[in-house]
Amino acid sequence: MYKNIFDTHAHYDDGRFDDDRDELLNSLTGKGVSHIINCGCDLKSSKTTLALSQKYAFIYAAVGVHAHEAEEATESDLLEIEELYRNEKVVAVGEIGLDYHYDFSPRERQLEVFERQLALANKLELPVIVHDREAHEDTMNLLKKYKPKGVVHCFSGSKEMAAEIVKLGMYIGMGGAVTFKNAKRPVEVMEYLPIERLLLETDAPYMTPVPFRGTRCDSAHIAYTAEKIAEIKKIDVQQLIDLCHENAKTLFGI
Ligand code: NI
Repeated sequence: MYKNIFDTHAHYDDGRFDDDRDELLNSLTGKGVSHIINCGCDLKSSKTTLALSQKYAFIYAAVGVHAHEAEEATESDLLEIEELYRNEKVVAVGEIGLDYHYDFSPRERQLEVFERQLALANKLELPVIVHDREAHEDTMNLLKKYKPKGVVHCFSGSKEMAAEIVKLGMYIGMGGAVTFKNAKRPVEVMEYLPIERLLLETDAPYMTPVPFRGTRCDSAHIAYTAEKIAEIKKIDVQQLIDLCHENAKTLFGI
């Protein structure tokens, strides 16, 4: 069994954990999971995220408005979320970003809400957790404009884009996608990426790595992602987990 697993991106507030949330979370430390960052997506899930971080010592909170929820989020929601950053278990502004694959919110509103939260993160001196799906150009333009500390999670770009993110001093979050049979780009990105810029993550309950793809993901599944990346990087699995653990602590100030 591995130890020291730091899952930098999960959604344990999701309804798919309603039946066994506490039982599952209580079991994770026995499976080598030492830290989890739970990410909110709107006011409601940001509040639930904060509550989880207060209940469990090993869970930390990222709060913010996701691209999907940008249209629904009101001014008062955004202001109420700003109040949550006063809590010391809140370590990042996230999950924020752009999603032009689903386009659940109009792009103009996605950009507005993303930009506002990038500015806020810089003001609060907090890192950002960025979601970018099929919006690489606009994402990079805003990251270059604001130069936040942070991570582009569930990275789906090219190795050229990864190099630009590294140049900005940011991190790349990699989860189950690198284990998928058709994972050409994530493998190329992992071959290129300096380990000191890598964070491990799940996006639980989504993005479950092979051989459990299609089932509900939890933070213990990171072991399979780490094994795949360690094979690509030709290093020991526990060593990779330890290095990524230190990267996460550095970025999130834990
Ligand atoms: Ni997510």
